[in-house]
Amino acid sequence: MTTAEPLDLNAVLRPAAPPVVFDAPYTADQHSRLLGVVKDHGPWPTITAHHFSTVEELIATSSGIVPENHGLTLDDIATANFRGFLAENSCCWYPEIHDCFYNPDFIERAKRYWGADYAKPTLMLFNIGGPAHSGLNAHLDAVSFRGATIADTPVWIQNLMGKSGLFTDHVLKMAQVITWFWLGEEGTFTYWPDGPHGQPARIEHPMWNKGVVVQNELMFHRGDPVGRPDERDITGLAHRSMFGYRPATDDWAITTDGEVVRTYEPTNIRFLVHWNAEVYMDRDEAKKVMDHSDDITRDRIIETFLEDLARRGVACETPDENDPFHDQSFIRTLLSTYTIAPTTDWYQRADDGRNSG
Ligand SMILES: [Fe+2]
Repeated sequence: MTTAEPLDLNAVLRPAAPPVVFDAPYTADQHSRLLGVVKDHGPWPTITAHHFSTVEELIATSSGIVPENHGLTLDDIATANFRGFLAENSCCWYPEIHDCFYNPDFIERAKRYWGADYAKPTLMLFNIGGPAHSGLNAHLDAVSFRGATIADTPVWIQNLMGKSGLFTDHVLKMAQVITWFWLGEEGTFTYWPDGPHGQPARIEHPMWNKGVVVQNELMFHRGDPVGRPDERDITGLAHRSMFGYRPATDDWAITTDGEVVRTYEPTNIRFLVHWNAEVYMDRDEAKKVMDHSDDITRDRIIETFLEDLARRGVACETPDENDPFHDQSFIRTLLSTYTIAPTTDWYQRADDGRNSG
């Protein structure tokens, strides 16, 4: 489905509704059980280790184009932010936190956020770490569409589909409840609720059991650097580093190949819980998602892009029909046409090029 032109990407990249900040998403008991799972089942890999096995994949996902001779290794761009999955594809992996995942209050909040009739929890993960550097680049979470999900479509195509605003009718509606437990300095959450050209907003301290209902696929956001600047350096951090709790010493440690490279006191840990639901405006929409009766096809995705490029007077050859989603010339054209990123920031930028998690 196409939108009116000229396409205003700043208008496209806004969440379904303004983020809703609220206090105490979890009870103290739920928090202790969530953290208990993290303590008992670690150590946990870095965020980037979950999603990327080569620098090329990482660069392609954030920018779509891999420059030649970039000379970077995954260790060069590793950040000390670690991740684990608590629930996937609506299945909660740990029975002791079922009530946190199949959470009636969160389901009602997700529905209310969209004004929708139904919501279904689909995913729950956590990010954890102590004071560390992170880049200041904002990002969008991967957008899924009926007919184009991570299962069959590269993330950079999903991101371009989202940024273009051409496929809004097929967006799988989502809402997240993101919650922070963090008492140290910085480590805030910055987001652009009025589009990337609007003013950014920030989830401010105190960030202990503070939550926000958001749609992070269509709103630029980032986690800000964590802790005091003088405590952020970590020597020996690598892409393959792990993070875990040590009961014997009641502290947390980053290890690289089994070697401890950094420890943190329990009070110096930033713990983020990310809960995600799929949302259906009505039963009709829910059925369309479930029975795939209105999925977009790969051919229709290509046609829609080509039609829009032609309307804009952008020259583009028909992509390689065998593998259009990896056709570098096609992707480069899409990237230069649908490129947008925040132009406003409150932060004193000293950007080191790393992506924040
Ligand atoms: Fe994100």
